[in-house]
Amino acid sequence: MAGDKDAIRIAPSVLAADFSRLAEEIDRVTEAGADLLHLDIMDGHFVPNLSYGIPVVEAIRRCTKLALDTHLMLSEPSDYIGPFADAGADSLTIHLEACPEPADTLQAIRGRGIKCGLAVNPGTPVDGLLPFLDQIDLALIMSVEPGFGGQSFQDRVLAKAQIVRQQIDERGLEVALEIDGGVGPGNAAACRGAGARWLVAGSSVFGAADAAAAIRRIRQG
Ligand code: DX5
Ligand code: ZN
Repeated sequence: MAGDKDAIRIAPSVLAADFSRLAEEIDRVTEAGADLLHLDIMDGHFVPNLSYGIPVVEAIRRCTKLALDTHLMLSEPSDYIGPFADAGADSLTIHLEACPEPADTLQAIRGRGIKCGLAVNPGTPVDGLLPFLDQIDLALIMSVEPGFGGQSFQDRVLAKAQIVRQQIDERGLEVALEIDGGVGPGNAAACRGAGARWLVAGSSVFGAADAAAAIRRIRQG
């Protein structure tokens, strides 16, 4: 029987919400069955876009009990671990491309009593991530170039997800495997088949008239 760690968890990315009605939007996806909220933090440097920062994370924290899966697309994430942890993030994921030697930053995140994750862009091989699997709670495989929501899913990353899944299982680790970018009902089965258990879905959930149906189809359709 599948245990809790094998459950599929859907994390709508708030980047695709209507920010003029953020609390209502969060209620809408919560009632629709979201398991987590994915928060995309962009610094205009690591990625060519700006999103939102600490005060918005604090505001989101006040209006939901869902875990805040916080994706730091920042060149210098180590400077912001404390502020995002204080703002209420439940996990902080940093990019291997920004932190080629991430051990200390990962440790600093865990030192705040929250989960730590390591992300790789579509073009980054997973070889650099594998040595850190025993130091992380979450491995995030980007399936679009980070920086913008609403892009097309890149199938080529599925092979990388399979490699990470195999390593997690062979080594008996309890690392969540997450795919992020362009995920929707049309490719969710492939993501699940590649071993991902946490699926980030921005446009396909917030953009759906029936968010519950979208989440259901991503989870099992
Ligand atoms: C891209 C972000 C993703 C993205 C997901 O930089 O990390 O989380 O916003 O949104 P969709 O599902 O619209 O690609
Ligand atoms: Zn993200």
